Amino acid sequence: MRIELPKSVERFGAIRFGDLQKVFELDSGMDNGYIPEPKHAIQRIPYQQLCRIFRDMAIVVPVKNERLKLVEGVLCAIPHPCMIIIVSNSPKSPVDRFSMEQDALRDFCTFAGKNALITHQKDPLLAKAFQSAGYNSILDNEGMIRDGKAEGMLIATLLAWLAGKKYIGFVDADNYFPGSIEEYIREYAAGFIISRSPYTMVRIAWHSKPKIVKSKLFFRKWGRTSTKTNYLLNSLISHYTGFETEIIKTGNAGEHALSMDLALNLDYSAGYSIEPYHIVNLLEKFGGINESPLPEIMKKTVEIHQIESRNPHLHEAGEKEHIDQMRYLAMQVIYHSSICPETLRREILREARSGGHIKADSDISQPHYFPALSRIDKSKFLDEISPAPYAQLIRNGIGKEN
Ligand code: GDD
Ligand code: MG
Repeated sequence: MRIELPKSVERFGAIRFGDLQKVFELDSGMDNGYIPEPKHAIQRIPYQQLCRIFRDMAIVVPVKNERLKLVEGVLCAIPHPCMIIIVSNSPKSPVDRFSMEQDALRDFCTFAGKNALITHQKDPLLAKAFQSAGYNSILDNEGMIRDGKAEGMLIATLLAWLAGKKYIGFVDADNYFPGSIEEYIREYAAGFIISRSPYTMVRIAWHSKPKIVKSKLFFRKWGRTSTKTNYLLNSLISHYTGFETEIIKTGNAGEHALSMDLALNLDYSAGYSIEPYHIVNLLEKFGGINESPLPEIMKKTVEIHQIESRNPHLHEAGEKEHIDQMRYLAMQVIYHSSICPETLRREILREARSGGHIKADSDISQPHYFPALSRIDKSKFLDEISPAPYAQLIRNGIGKEN
């Protein structure tokens, strides 16, 4: 891969937000012994280097009731050395969609000659393991794991940590272009290679989202939710720096990856609000506004790399209510942050009311949060899940053979 370094970087406390990085070559060949000078603005990353990161990376596919053909396409796009984790919240009746997903994964693994891990979000064993490990916020009133994409992602992050992975990346299961997924994962690895910090997040900005408009293909750049979310996050940063900024271009990036060191130390919020809350929580913890609960990380830097993909992104189009809900969730986590200034809070409230997200006399409801996973008692969790078919894979460090 040949990729530019961020042209500009905005520093905020311990955080370095990098501007969008462009990819010049998806595959720049093998290592030829040539070491680029660090001052080169465009870095060539040989395949062997990407591969070294793949071996330490788990790729998570959260799935809820997606077409199997799409899930199969996603699986075949994940570079062989990566560990695959599917967390499904698909229904088991009247048709057992989960068992169909298990079959599809089993077939894939047979043909690809690798192991992979699949679990269901509502597996009582997982709920019990979280409870024993002292992490009750992920449980619902029935004592099962809550619904939601973020909740599935948290399960997967924990399993990847237990399996000894150093990086974790997420790709949605409803993607029509396997080639785009392969590209995102290469970009995750490239971001980790470029980063000089153990605390790194890589977020993908889609090149475009193709749509049919008046019988013609139109390649739209910004999604309906992301424009608004980016604006609010940039307003939050501008308030503190005193300089208007457009640095955040990936406020809703579903396609993103984290170094495990960072993933374990962030707090999370529920469902689809997880991605905007990444940025909010980074600012809260490492932005230098509040006293950081993690002074050791404050002494280092946290790097955010935003990489623009080359492939277009085509996924199942969401209904208007779904899009509205995602917008509201982003507003919610910014509005309720301890670092949200009063002016922005008023603006968000006005917008939520005028946009019909809440009634004219209502306030924005509190989001549901999850504390950092680092507080989990790992050995208690492992003990509880030992009857699960994948526990042995985790113990053996699944993916080492790939
Ligand atoms: N395990 C699990 N549990 N997975 C879920 C759940 C759940 O409760 N709900 C949804 N998923 C899976 C879906 O099957 C899909 O693979 C992925 O999570 C994303 O869900 P979508 O419903 O397709 O989300 P979207 O396309 O509207 O939004 C995506 O892109 C946004 C950026 O534009 C998501 O990735 C958002 O988080 C992201 O902000
Ligand atoms: Mg989708």
